[in-house]
Amino acid sequence: MKIALGCDHGGIAIKPSVVKVLKANGIEIEDFGCFDTSSVDYPDYALKVAEAVSQGKADKGIILCGTGIGISIAANKVKGIRAAVCHDLFTAQMCSQHNDANILAMGGRVVSEELAAQMTQVWLDTPFEGGRHSGRVGKITQIENKYFK
Ligand code: RB5
Repeated sequence: MKIALGCDHGGIAIKPSVVKVLKANGIEIEDFGCFDTSSVDYPDYALKVAEAVSQGKADKGIILCGTGIGISIAANKVKGIRAAVCHDLFTAQMCSQHNDANILAMGGRVVSEELAAQMTQVWLDTPFEGGRHSGRVGKITQIENKYFK
């Protein structure tokens, strides 16, 4: 599995702990930056990760900003992306189990390094349940097809 990774200066604090989990799981990482705490614009990194996932160059993505909100909003503007901003283990599990989220978003000013690592592991370990949720995710795709070019 390959995971695309992106963050801004607000999310970079939790990147090392996420990377550690990915490496421990033998996952290939494409890190699109940023790489230091200089102020940058989160949509630039959201776009890189979202395009990699949307185009099949990565299986999934993880994006990090201060809250996880801005970077997830931006990523969700790319067709085929279901980016979920999560704050705890339950939401990290459910976004995969029920929503088939292909990008996990977290906030470096919201969750600790330890929690970010645990959430990453739970998200990786939780498969999409399918069943009744397939129809609902399919309806999200229908909305995309209606409004995206
Ligand atoms: C940057 O200061 C901050 O606005 C950004 O990381 C993110 O929290 C936006 O949603």
